[in-house]
Amino acid sequence: MTDSTHQTAPADGKDRVVIFDTTLRDGEQSPGATMTHAEKLEIAGLLDEMGVDIIEAGFPIASEGDFRAVSEIAKRAETSVICGLARAQLKDIDRCWEAVKHARRPRIHTFIGTSPLHRAIPNLTRDEMAERIHETVTHARNLCDNVQWSPMDATRTEWDYLCRVVEIAIKAGASTINIPDTVGYTAPVESADLIRRLIAEVPGADDVIFATHCHNDLGMATANSLAAVAGGARQIECTINGLGERAGNTALEEVVMAMKVRGDIMPYSTGIDTTKIMNISRRVAAVSGFAVQFNKAIVGKNAFAHESGIHQDGMLKNAETFEIMRPEDVGIAGTSLPLGKHSGRAALRAKLKDLGIEVGDNQLKDIFVRFKDLADRKKEVYDDDILALVRTSGEGEDHLELINLKVICGTGPAEAVLEMEVDGVEHSATCEGDGPVDATFKAVRAIHPNEARLQLYQVNAVTEGTDAQATVSVRLEEDGMIATGQSADTDTVVASAKAYINALNRLIVRRAKTGSDTAEVSYKDLA
Ligand code: KIV
Ligand code: ZN
Repeated sequence: MTDSTHQTAPADGKDRVVIFDTTLRDGEQSPGATMTHAEKLEIAGLLDEMGVDIIEAGFPIASEGDFRAVSEIAKRAETSVICGLARAQLKDIDRCWEAVKHARRPRIHTFIGTSPLHRAIPNLTRDEMAERIHETVTHARNLCDNVQWSPMDATRTEWDYLCRVVEIAIKAGASTINIPDTVGYTAPVESADLIRRLIAEVPGADDVIFATHCHNDLGMATANSLAAVAGGARQIECTINGLGERAGNTALEEVVMAMKVRGDIMPYSTGIDTTKIMNISRRVAAVSGFAVQFNKAIVGKNAFAHESGIHQDGMLKNAETFEIMRPEDVGIAGTSLPLGKHSGRAALRAKLKDLGIEVGDNQLKDIFVRFKDLADRKKEVYDDDILALVRTSGEGEDHLELINLKVICGTGPAEAVLEMEVDGVEHSATCEGDGPVDATFKAVRAIHPNEARLQLYQVNAVTEGTDAQATVSVRLEEDGMIATGQSADTDTVVASAKAYINALNRLIVRRAKTGSDTAEVSYKDLA
C-alpha cells in the first residue's frame, strides 16, 4: 500500500476509515461561504487538531488567495496530509504542487469529468480523455508520491469506461481513487455495489484506497458514504456541517458519529477526536455565515434537547432512554452556570476554555468589553451568548465603524439617524425606510455609497426571552466578490447595522487585495 494515510490494524481491531475533509475546498466553493485567509488557517488548524487524516485545503490555481491559503496551511500542518485540487491540466498540477509541497505530507488531487455530459465540456473523445488521464496522473506522480485521482460524475459514467479510466489512473501511479457522486444522484445500495464491483473487477484495485465523495441533493450523502464503506471504500470525503454547493457534501460529524455509535454493525474506526466536533461546527458556521439548522443531526441546537414532558421524565430516570450518544462525546459541555455582570476577566477566560475556545489577549480584551456591555443589559449571560460574542468579535481592520444609531419606527415609515466613522472621520446621516432595518441600511449607504447587493439577511435569537441577543448575518455581493458579516446585540436593529458594516468592511479589505480572493477559474470550467 503506497498511501501513507493507510493504517490497517488499529488497536481496536476495526478497519480504519480515512477521513478526508474538504470544507476548505468543496465547502468554501459554496456560493457565499467564502472565508478570509485567517479564517481558512484557523479552520485548517482545528481540523488538524481533531485528527482529520487529509485536509483538502483549496484549489491553488483558482486564485492567488487560494494558492496563498493552501501554501500556508501546508507549512503549518502538524499531522494531517495537506491536499490541493487540480484539474487535468499540467499547469494546474504544477501550481498545486507549488502550494502543497511545503507540507510534511503533501497530496495532489487531480480530476476530470468522465460521464458523457462532462466529457462534452472539453469536447474530448473517450480515447482522448483516457490519454489525458494517463498523462496528468503520471505528471502528478512525478512531482508527488501521494496522488489522488477522481472521475467527476463517476456515478453517471458508463460502467465500462469507468473501469477503463480507473485502471489507467492506478497504472499511472494514483494511490487513492475517489468515486464522486457529484450531483447527489446515487442511492445506498448502488453506492455500495459500485465500489464493490470496482474493487472486484479493475486490475490493480487491491493496491489502492477507494474513496467516496457524496453530495446531498437527495438527502442521502451520509447513507451513500457509509454504504460505500460497506462496499470496500476506506476513505470518506466530507465537510463540517455538510457545507457545500447546493444541498452540500456528506457531513463529517454524521459519518464519524454513525460509525462510532453503531460500531456493532459498522466495525470501522477513524482518527477523529469527536469531542472537538461541536467547536469546529460552530466556527465553520460562524466564518461561512451558513447557520446550522436547529434539528441538524449531531450539531444542531436541538440535537440533544429533550423538551417534551415524557422525554424529560425518561431522561431524568436514565439518559439512555432517549439518547444514543452523550453530549460530551461531541464536545457539548454539561449545563454550566451563566455569567453575570460581576464576572471578571478570569471567569470569562475559564468559560471560553470550557467551551473549547482559545483566544489571544487582544481578542479576549475585545470580547470582555462586549461581555461587560452585554451583562449590563442582560441579567444572565449564557454559553450561547458568549459564543455569539466570540463569533462576532472584531477583526482589527475596520474602515467603517458604527458610533451611534437611533431609530424611530412604528406604523408609519421608519427613520434612522446614524453616526459612523469612515477611516477615523465621523459622519452622520438621517434616512427614511420601509422599516427600521431598511432605514438603517440606507443611512449606511448615504455615508458610504456602494453598489453591494444584499444576498442574505438572517436573524436568529441566541437564547430564549425577549432580552435575548439577536445574531444577524448579512451577505453582500459586489462585482462577483462575496462577503458575509455577522454581529450580535440585544437590539436587533443595532445587530443588523453592525453585521451590514462588518460585511462592507470585509468587501473593502478584499477589494484592496486586488481581487485575490476572486476565483480566476472554476473547477468545473474544463475547456
Ligand atoms: O463533486 C465532485 O465531483 C468534486 C470533485 C472535484 C472531486 O468535488
Ligand atoms: Zn464535490
